[in-house]
Amino acid sequence: MNSLLVQSLITFFVITSFFFSINLPFTLCADHFQYANCSQAIKCGNIPNISYPFWGVNRADYCGQPSCEVECQDNIPVINISDVKYRILEMSSSSTNRMVKVARDDYWETLCPPSYINDSIIDPWLYDDFNSRNLSLYYDCNPAAFETYTGLDYSSNSQVCSNKVTVSFTTKNLNSAIDVVSAGVCKDMVNLTVFETAFIALEKNSTKIQDAIKGGFELGLGIDTGPCDSCEASGGKCGVSHGEFMCFCQDQPVSTNCSSSSGMIDICDVNYRFKNMF
Ligand SMILES: *[C@@H]1O[C@H](CO)[C@@H](O)[C@H](O)[C@H]1NC(C)=O
Ligand SMILES: *[C@@H]1O[C@H](CO)[C@@H](O)[C@H](O)[C@H]1NC(C)=O
Ligand SMILES: *[C@@H]1O[C@H](CO)[C@@H](O)[C@H](O)[C@H]1NC(C)=O
Ligand SMILES: *[C@@H]1O[C@H](CO)[C@@H](O)[C@H](O)[C@H]1NC(C)=O
Ligand SMILES: *[C@@H]1O[C@H](CO)[C@@H](O)[C@H](O)[C@H]1NC(C)=O
Ligand SMILES: *[C@@H]1O[C@H](CO)[C@@H](O)[C@H](O)[C@H]1NC(C)=O
Ligand SMILES: *[C@@H]1O[C@H](CO)[C@@H](O)[C@H](O)[C@H]1NC(C)=O
Ligand SMILES: *[C@@H]1O[C@H](CO)[C@@H](O)[C@H](O)[C@H]1NC(C)=O
Repeated sequence: MNSLLVQSLITFFVITSFFFSINLPFTLCADHFQYANCSQAIKCGNIPNISYPFWGVNRADYCGQPSCEVECQDNIPVINISDVKYRILEMSSSSTNRMVKVARDDYWETLCPPSYINDSIIDPWLYDDFNSRNLSLYYDCNPAAFETYTGLDYSSNSQVCSNKVTVSFTTKNLNSAIDVVSAGVCKDMVNLTVFETAFIALEKNSTKIQDAIKGGFELGLGIDTGPCDSCEASGGKCGVSHGEFMCFCQDQPVSTNCSSSSGMIDICDVNYRFKNMF
């Protein structure tokens, strides 16, 4: 036999034994499909880490809560909350800080969108954090009535939008008993949520109203963070099955966390633990 043949035989043997002893079990024990799918954050624009309770785009519906669907529009992740569209600016899902920062999409380019809707966050999985304040915008006000009502100079507190609508604003705590719209002072009024820091900066005239709105505000995440923290700490991915919280482990879905043993000797589980030793 020439040496080339010997070499080929040895190579064949090594590769074959390698495949049968190592690679085959690994292939049979591929990550469970729900674990694999929910391991990915939403791929949209350059906002990283958008994950549970959000789903959509490349994340299947079982990776999040039904009301938390994200769509990718022009490379911007957006979500509807109580029929209002918000851009997701940032998400943090560390167990010590679970929050999402959002901003109104309809106010991104203008202070005068085609229709007026108040912010009202009503969602079981997202709640208004307490670092926010309500900023009121008033549309097409009677200048004299506005000055009487607010005690502010009309022209320095108003802007003409490109569509000829005039928007006025104040950070002053107005008498909420007076309804400016029905009192005929202004045609419309909209409440927007902004960070308290942005609100204070506006009061000091150290930021622009458009920047305060674009800065968005923070929402707290979900009432089931306990189970999700426990699931993630054990190496699982949080999700939903038949309306119930589910922890997708690398080998199977469980209702609690991946540390809770099924009590059965599972070749894939052994393989999983073996892989995680390195
Ligand atoms: C995850 O699931 C969604 C919806 O079924 C699918 O479009 C996407 O390709 C899946 N991605 C992976 C990596 O499994
Ligand atoms: C938000 O609502 C609009 C219509 O109101 C709809 O076209 C859009 O698909 C919704 N987006 C999501 C993420 O639900
Ligand atoms: C995204 O998550 C990774 C890992 O969890 C973390 O290191 C990073 O700081 C996060 N990025 C942001 C913008 O939160
Ligand atoms: C927003 O809420 C205020 C009451 O706080 C109300 O006067 C106003 O009409 C609402 N605006 C819209 C567009 O519904
Ligand atoms: C903002 O308005 C909401 C109603 O939409 C109200 O529940 C909340 O208390 C207001 N927040 C502040 C700081 O006034
Ligand atoms: C609008 O904001 C004012 C305070 O700025 C608050 O008194 C009122 O309850 C808010 N209304 C709505 C519908 O958010
Ligand atoms: C806020 O500052 C701008 C200049 O940056 C000035 O034109 C405007 O009059 C100020 N508004 C108030 C209410 O002080
Ligand atoms: C997993 O759940 C068990 C109870 O089912 C609990 O004792 C354990 O602390 C949990 N593990 C983690 C990492 O939270």
